Amino acid sequence: MTNHKILITYASRSGSTAEIAEAIGERLTQRGIQIDVLPMQEVKDLSAYWAVIAGSPIRNSKWLPEAMQFIESHRSVLSQKPFATFTVSITLAMSNTEPYRQAVLKWTQPVRALIQPVNEGLFAGRLDFSKLPINWDTLKLRAVVALGIFPKEDRCDWKAVSQWADGIHSLLLQKC
Ligand SMILES: Cc1cc2nc3c(=O)[nH]c(=O)nc-3n(C[C@H](O)[C@H](O)[C@H](O)COP(=O)(O)O)c2cc1C
Repeated sequence: MTNHKILITYASRSGSTAEIAEAIGERLTQRGIQIDVLPMQEVKDLSAYWAVIAGSPIRNSKWLPEAMQFIESHRSVLSQKPFATFTVSITLAMSNTEPYRQAVLKWTQPVRALIQPVNEGLFAGRLDFSKLPINWDTLKLRAVVALGIFPKEDRCDWKAVSQWADGIHSLLLQKC
């Protein structure tokens, strides 16, 4: 048990990264840690937090621009705190994801170039077309789903999310 508060902050366009952030928050709260879970646009000041976990989905092989902007804006403060990241991607919802983890880690290299996290969670996302605009990019994704390459359903491994939260808790609080 600690009085040190942890911020879990995320960027999310169609809700799946927000749900994973909430699940990490619930797990850490069960461990008696004070947690705020907030979208990045609502975070102005990090001074109240002992540690920060930041998450973004992948779009076109990159973290969302607003998530990169958040890291760049708060880089100097974040580099002085225990800091972890998580990344959500549909590639990791495919069957046999092991070979794709390396690809996702390449996509998150620009984040590590700004600040090296103590740990990086990689989780399966989902494509919820009811929450996405109709445009060329999403039409291509619909085709990939129709071909059975990306799944329609939610394949997030919630147990893996909880396990990651369990592991990250001691890494983030070890210097308390
Ligand atoms: C326009 C668009 C581009 C995407 N590009 C990628 C990609 O390059 N690689 C990938 O693995 N997933 C990609 N995805 C899938 C998202 O990472 C996945 O749907 C994620 O769960 C979305 O998170 P959100 O619901 O928090 O916005 C893309 C999704 C959209 C809508």
